[in-house]
Amino acid sequence: MKAYRASLLRFDFNGNALFDEDGLLVVGPDSAGRQVVLDAGPWHQVAPRHPGLDATSLPGRILAPGFIDMHIHFPQTDIIGAPADGLLPWLENYTFPAESQFTDPEHASQVAEVFLDELMRNGVTTALAFATSHPTSVNAIFSAAQRRELRMVAGKVLQDRHSPDGVRDETEQSLIDTEALIQRWHNVDRLGYAITPRFAPTCTDEQLRGAGELAARYPDTWIHTHVAENEDEVKWVMKLFPEARSYLDVYLGFDLMRARSIYAHCIHFDDDDRRLMRETGAAAAVSPTSNLFLGSGFFDFEGADRIGYHYGLASDVGGGTSFSPFHTMLAAYYVGREGRTKPGLSIAPSQLWWRHTAGAARALGLEGVVGNLQPGCEADFLVLNPKATPLLARKTGRASNLEELLFSLIVLGDDRVIEQTVISQAAPATGGVPKSTPSSR
Ligand code: GUN
Ligand code: FE
Repeated sequence: MKAYRASLLRFDFNGNALFDEDGLLVVGPDSAGRQVVLDAGPWHQVAPRHPGLDATSLPGRILAPGFIDMHIHFPQTDIIGAPADGLLPWLENYTFPAESQFTDPEHASQVAEVFLDELMRNGVTTALAFATSHPTSVNAIFSAAQRRELRMVAGKVLQDRHSPDGVRDETEQSLIDTEALIQRWHNVDRLGYAITPRFAPTCTDEQLRGAGELAARYPDTWIHTHVAENEDEVKWVMKLFPEARSYLDVYLGFDLMRARSIYAHCIHFDDDDRRLMRETGAAAAVSPTSNLFLGSGFFDFEGADRIGYHYGLASDVGGGTSFSPFHTMLAAYYVGREGRTKPGLSIAPSQLWWRHTAGAARALGLEGVVGNLQPGCEADFLVLNPKATPLLARKTGRASNLEELLFSLIVLGDDRVIEQTVISQAAPATGGVPKSTPSSR
């Protein structure tokens, strides 16, 4: 057992932020030996329950749940900031050429390590990631994540049409490869498999049908794709699938909507689409830095809340411009202002934070497993330094309540705030220090 005394940010199961100025986090092995939260709360309440337990004091620091990135492309790490006139030219000119290099296992492994370094430096402890269409890339990201004991969901991209040589796969083989990868990696340690059709325009009916069949055969896998991101893309889909009521309806037609199906973007939706999300238990991965960078549009937060379907925040690197959850939350705040009809500023800072931690866990079907630091939650947590920069030190020192404190971090924070990223270990505690990133500076 190990205990940490510092300020403590957690979430309850209703999505409320809980903050203890003087908090105590107690972690230790669960019945399977995995490090989980055993107890957490105000120091004066929690400490007496564990007499004799020595706590590591971290004065001035905040312990917080690791962030969850609901949609990211590991092979696009090197194309962040590639300018293009919208999604489709960006895919053609930058994305597909970069992804075509992932037949090379050396390259795939090297980028996987850089990618995981960036996630951890930025405090992201769980991600749902696209690989490329090459099985090599899937093996690279899972092997690297497994070595670090990260919770990672990923999958081989399916794209058997409207894709150039080098990334286009072959229908039958792509489905055989997907099933083999599910059998090799799904539910191994903390890894999970996502059946990953790139998006409807690059998949034949046969490939989408095969993906839906695999999703039914392996019901606790994830489904991960893109929908309704860009207006030209939507027009293209409606031309390719003239019978579909909407872009989202194409996926419904191939049995690709269920709990654990994660749809990136969901911008150009109507209320029927939103109801379909709610009724099927699907979730949106909202990626505001990407949507602003590629000029895709603005996610309708009010519409999502009015109908009431699951969503959480995501970077969508390399369409997204940053690995930092702080940057993503700030962009979501900006987007939340667009078209707002209700009074109020935009989205509350604690809500933004929830959407990138416990709320994202709920949307992924991992509520209580990660993201909220409630007892039983896997011990993926961050040590934040709210005074990491001179400006933050001035600003957070003046915060008079939790919302002001979180807002200062969202607006001014970046990887410098993340002093340590602690990953839950499988082995029983031996009294050693937990594996973590080195103190960043
Ligand atoms: N739609 C299809 N592929 C992609 C991709 O790689 N990134 C984004 N943002 N949208 C896509
Ligand atoms: Fe994406």
